Amino acid sequence: MNIERVYILGIESSCDDTSASVTCNGKVLSNIIANQDIHRQYGGVVPELASRAHQQNIIPVIEAALSSAKVSKEQLHAIAFTRGPGLMGSLLVGTSFAKAFALALGIPLIEVNHMEAHVLANFANRGESAFVAPDFSFLCLTVSGGHTQLVMAESTSKLSVIGQTLDDAAGEAFDKSAKILGLPYPGGPLIDKYAKEGNPLAYPFPVPDMPELNFSFSGLKTSFLYFIEKQVRNNQNFIEDNLNNICASIQHTIIKALILKFKKAITDTGVKSIAIAGGVSANSGLRKAVTDLGIQMNVNVFIPSFEYCTDNAAMISVAGYFKYRNDDFATQDIVPLARYPF
Ligand code: KG4
Ligand code: ZN
Repeated sequence: MNIERVYILGIESSCDDTSASVTCNGKVLSNIIANQDIHRQYGGVVPELASRAHQQNIIPVIEAALSSAKVSKEQLHAIAFTRGPGLMGSLLVGTSFAKAFALALGIPLIEVNHMEAHVLANFANRGESAFVAPDFSFLCLTVSGGHTQLVMAESTSKLSVIGQTLDDAAGEAFDKSAKILGLPYPGGPLIDKYAKEGNPLAYPFPVPDMPELNFSFSGLKTSFLYFIEKQVRNNQNFIEDNLNNICASIQHTIIKALILKFKKAITDTGVKSIAIAGGVSANSGLRKAVTDLGIQMNVNVFIPSFEYCTDNAAMISVAGYFKYRNDDFATQDIVPLARYPF
């Protein structure tokens, strides 16, 4: 019996979070994330500043991941990194570091698709007794700042997109609505916070409904903007007087649009298990709505811990471990991909 412990270092640098994680046989030992506050003052991620911050952060973050895991670099078996999709300047920092580190240590390199890793974040755990991994096949709703996808996962290496947004992502719908309300970037978590105290039915907005399993959020953003502008013309203090109700209403509408297609996809595919992933899967309203949907549709529901919803390297390391088991390695001539469909 092979009892070898396989240690994988995962590196994530696709957008504005620099993250490193060490896993042992797919169990998370450490997951260090350095957020870049610099983007707040610009109301969104500035690519050039992001890549510079990654350069500053990457070595301390990797050192912290190794020391927190109590694993030395000589013990590592492979290095997994995010190849894409993402910002090219940001991806280059993680990719170059991963290649150089793997070469120096004489160990294999594993490339990981960031969106596949979000789905596989449902397998990330630290060995907690309550943890249950999803069973294949499952359908995952991946909702992040750049993507909204319905993914059919038939195995760790067989993932296919069966529906997606035709314009804005769900995270963008949250962030752009927050920006209209004058809230700082990223506004998704703040909308979630204020929504908890508000009435979701206070202001009805049209729920986007596209053909098939597709989503659209750009029209909702426009109707939200026109609504707020109109109300502010009548009452200058409309936003501050009604912030909780406004946040609860827009959040309710975004979730309704997501659940509408998730439900259709469950019916169309006949899956018995569903999951969510990506930054927006940290939203408390969505987590509850998906739990309720599971009960209603009689399917198993898997929801990642908060730590593995937004961008993190644990999901890269876990995805890397699955590829390691399949001997699926990358070569030193690999380049990052800003667009990387799977
Ligand atoms: O997955 P992620 O960290 O990065 C991308 O790959 O895009 O997702 C970031 C997105 C942002 O749009 C952020 O506002 C949103 O996830 N987000 C949330 C919450 N936490 C993060 N949206 C709504 N409610 C939350 N609690
Ligand atoms: Zn992401």
